[in-house]
Amino acid sequence: MRFDVISLFPAMFTALKHGITGRALTRGLAELILWNPRDYAVNAHGQVDDRPYGGGPGMLMRYEPLAAAIQAARAASPAGQVLYLSPQGQPFTQAVAQRLAQTDALILLAGRYEGIDERLLNTQVDAVWSVGDYVVSGGELPAMLMIDSIIRLLPGALGHTESAGQDSFSAGLLDHPHYTRPEVVAEQVVPDVLLSGDHARIRRWRLQQALGRTWQQRPDLLQQYPLSDEEQTLLVEYIDAINESPQPTGSGVIRE
Ligand SMILES: C[S@@+](CC[C@H](N)C(=O)[O-])C[C@H]1O[C@@H](n2cnc3c(N)ncnc32)[C@H](O)[C@@H]1O
Repeated sequence: MRFDVISLFPAMFTALKHGITGRALTRGLAELILWNPRDYAVNAHGQVDDRPYGGGPGMLMRYEPLAAAIQAARAASPAGQVLYLSPQGQPFTQAVAQRLAQTDALILLAGRYEGIDERLLNTQVDAVWSVGDYVVSGGELPAMLMIDSIIRLLPGALGHTESAGQDSFSAGLLDHPHYTRPEVVAEQVVPDVLLSGDHARIRRWRLQQALGRTWQQRPDLLQQYPLSDEEQTLLVEYIDAINESPQPTGSGVIRE
């Protein structure tokens, strides 16, 4: 999959050279091409920003350099839709990542300063995505979040020991708790069921924990999740156990 990114700070994207995204880029599962609007600046000083009409604090990214950079990226990647990162966009979720991972190419536009000239949004941008209800200084980190979450969904991006299918949100629930060696640490034990070797019981326990955790931490997700009969029973059991002996939030352990 091809990612073209338009950013005033292309060096920031070296962060993607590490770990899973780095491996996908090295192996050619994903390609990252960076475009700097300064290469399309309106004058010899490399100017890409200007003061807002109407006054007020801050600067805005000018139309012309960004439009030229987008045009160059579109010419190089005709299949790519242009996505602008903005706190005013639609929420970027795992479901959106799953949908975008089915496409061949994306062109991501990272804003800076107070953002971009509105006319660019009207004419050059296909969709606007937000990574959350908070404001960061530029679109680079949001663009990297999007790219990372999409790359890990590409076939072959995760090694055989890793799985995106069990991750939080992929099936509409939070992930279940995880444990590794040692069996006892900080006076806490690994739940017996995980040492039992009984795969049916382990599957049931993990599903119950995922349901319980989602109920505790993100009830909004559970409201949209169609519970099967088995899941309904497991959740009721979980809630009953919590009511009998409340656990601190996040402990996530119901002992079998
Ligand atoms: C300081 S912000 C501008 C915020 C803008 N004045 C507003 O309040 O909507 C600069 C750039 O950071 C990026 N950005 C900031 N927060 C973001 C978020 N939550 N999601 C996506 N992009 C964000 C956008 O590209 C934006 O153009």
